[in-house]
Amino acid sequence: MTHKRTQIVQADIGTDKNYKAVSPPLYLSSTYGFHGFEDMGEYDYGRSGNPNRDALGKAVAELEGGAGGVVTSSGMAAIDLVMNLLTSDELVIAPHDCYGGTHRLLTHRQIQGRFRTLFVDQSDPQALAAAFEQKPSLILIETPSNPLMRLVDIAAICKAAKKVGALVAVDNTFLSPARQLPLSLGADFAIHSTTKYLNGHSDVVGGCIVAKTAEHFEKLSWWANCTGVTGAPFDAFMTLRGMRTLHARMDIAEKNAIALAKFLKKHKAVNHVYYPGLRSDAGHKLMKKQQSGPGAMLSFDIKGGREAAKAVLENTSLFQLAESLGGVESLICHPATMTHRAMDDEARNIAGIKDTLIRISVGLEDISDLTGDLKGAISAI
Ligand SMILES: Cc1ncc(COP(=O)(O)O)c(C=O)c1O
Repeated sequence: MTHKRTQIVQADIGTDKNYKAVSPPLYLSSTYGFHGFEDMGEYDYGRSGNPNRDALGKAVAELEGGAGGVVTSSGMAAIDLVMNLLTSDELVIAPHDCYGGTHRLLTHRQIQGRFRTLFVDQSDPQALAAAFEQKPSLILIETPSNPLMRLVDIAAICKAAKKVGALVAVDNTFLSPARQLPLSLGADFAIHSTTKYLNGHSDVVGGCIVAKTAEHFEKLSWWANCTGVTGAPFDAFMTLRGMRTLHARMDIAEKNAIALAKFLKKHKAVNHVYYPGLRSDAGHKLMKKQQSGPGAMLSFDIKGGREAAKAVLENTSLFQLAESLGGVESLICHPATMTHRAMDDEARNIAGIKDTLIRISVGLEDISDLTGDLKGAISAI
């Protein structure tokens, strides 16, 4: 069998039957003609199915090792989609330090009475054991967590979940299948904001959820059509185009991130670097066990309070001050006032997201330029 790296470069290439176009054509049509009375072709209506969306779902599923992938209009839509499998009295266990938008969604679905949510420090065995005693139906994992890069043991949580009959969904956005394969560790679903590494060029918002079993894939596809959260054809076309270079991009970005983490760790203005690629990081051992590399996201805590953080954030030129991550270009962000502002102060404190925390998404630029940019910004404090 060919390698995943090869499969994704080749996904849907050379399949055009009309003109033998090497790159797959884009099908924007919202509707498809029937062959005759009660004789539908492969597609009938764009919300229910589309060739570009299907090609993308298949490609992500192949990378993740699942039965099928449902492509949604955003990462949040993918997370919300899996929650359709729950009824109102069921319980979701989610990480206390998850992406702010995920925290907001699960909090407000609970307020609505859609299901119950319990936010737990999943790296704390006692807290996790106590949560499992409440008989959850679904465990949502985010590892590495956003923005503190805390790792949790996917295989161990999946084992405990199976004992109580709970499903496990892993948000694999921060690493992509190029570095972590949750389904092979026992998870039932791998979720992506394809906005990030899979598309990789910061020009599409999208999502995908891969199910391990055909039965779950069917159920999720049904709900995606029913609720209308399926992604747009052009977005799917662009995302598959971006995904062809996933492994190549990740190799370069990760190499840059390792170098930047080492640089920041030695810098006297930096309190702490959160990056499992560093030997000294709390998650290093687990990273070696469940990931094929540390990835290209890291955070650091700067000395000198909020003003010092502000000075760094306002004085980079290559690192753009922006939310999101996983694109070819480097980005810098302040989680407390940007990506995680949807969490209230108490939830942010519990998660340990301080005003002095800075997150960077490391891109593909030359490493000496990136190091120089950060060095210059830190010297502005
Ligand atoms: C880990 C993680 N999951 C999900 C999402 C939501 O994705 P989207 O913005 O595509 O809805 C994000 C967005 O930043 C994220 O960082």
